[in-house]
Amino acid sequence: VTYIEPTEVKQIAVVGGGLIGASWAAYFLAKGFSVAVFDPSAEARGRVRSLIAAAWPAMIAAGITSVPDPRMPSLHDDLNGACANADFVQESGPEDIDLKRELFARIDGATPGHVVIASSSSSLLPSDYQVTAVYPERVLAAHPFNPPSLIPLVEIAGGGQTSSDAVDWAMDFFTLIGKVPVRVRREVPGYIANRMSAALFREAVDLVASGVASVADVDKSITAGPGLRWAAMGPHMIYHLAGGQGGYRQYLEHLGPAQQRRWQSLGESPLTPDIIDILVAGIEDELDRHSVHDATHARDMLVARIMNAIVDVSAPHPS
Ligand SMILES: NC(=O)c1ccc[n+]([C@@H]2O[C@H](COP(=O)([O-])OP(=O)(O)OC[C@H]3O[C@@H](n4cnc5c(N)ncnc54)[C@H](O)[C@@H]3O)[C@@H](O)[C@H]2O)c1
Repeated sequence: VTYIEPTEVKQIAVVGGGLIGASWAAYFLAKGFSVAVFDPSAEARGRVRSLIAAAWPAMIAAGITSVPDPRMPSLHDDLNGACANADFVQESGPEDIDLKRELFARIDGATPGHVVIASSSSSLLPSDYQVTAVYPERVLAAHPFNPPSLIPLVEIAGGGQTSSDAVDWAMDFFTLIGKVPVRVRREVPGYIANRMSAALFREAVDLVASGVASVADVDKSITAGPGLRWAAMGPHMIYHLAGGQGGYRQYLEHLGPAQQRRWQSLGESPLTPDIIDILVAGIEDELDRHSVHDATHARDMLVARIMNAIVDVSAPHPS
């Protein structure tokens, strides 16, 4: 199979117009693609439009687009209509394996075999959902980080039947359109970023559940501390710099044992109803009467400012 040049992609089908599908649509529209969204739900039309409109200001602030008014996709209640003429498909339907398998069979049937079909799925693996496709070699995961309209990271993972050409194509395509793709060499649950997030979140829950700190102080311990460094450099490079002249080797040999002792003391509180109540009460204190809408807006505008700052840094950084 010969895939079209990534530079020749003009039309993108987004299958599933929920939180993630609408956010992908906003990004593709901002990058000048013609976008067709399929969603069977009657409310999807209005919701997709309002999600795109809400995503647009932060994309302007982040320099992703300079078009002042949001562009809009065509909205379809039939999958074939949305996939007709698609040069690339980004699937973002509900997280349900039977439904994904059915969807991939239908998308596979609606597009020629040289069109790459990517799934946003966070917890299902391509080997599981590509099985219903007649051309499974072009099915892969392109897993975004919420919101895909803004966050550059896209994790690219192939399944057992995915061709390396399709994975290479996706790496090239997402690089071309301004994303930061990473290659997941072996399918594992949570891929890369969500595995690291899960390791941190397990401890964030346990610190509250075991009475070490409040929800707000746990959150502050990231945003006012390591979170600032992590926006600039990843955990490996941070510890390389922490090793001084001797670099990462010095750090690992001298401070590695302290890290290993900490690993042994990490907790794992179960998410019992009592602990859930404590976490929810803590987040309400932290929100301090601000709405989730305000907090989402604040997150996106801050992320946009950080992204602008990162572009100005000349030292090595993840992108
Ligand atoms: N929410 C996140 O933070 C996040 C992050 C990364 C990836 N994802 C992944 O993105 C995907 C979508 O998640 P979401 O949070 O947008 O969910 P969502 O529930 O907001 O959206 C799902 C959409 O799919 C539509 N739908 C229902 N049946 C469908 C069908 N047969 N065909 C097409 N669309 C159908 C629904 O109407 C809804 O609009 C999931 O696979 C999820 O794992 C989610």
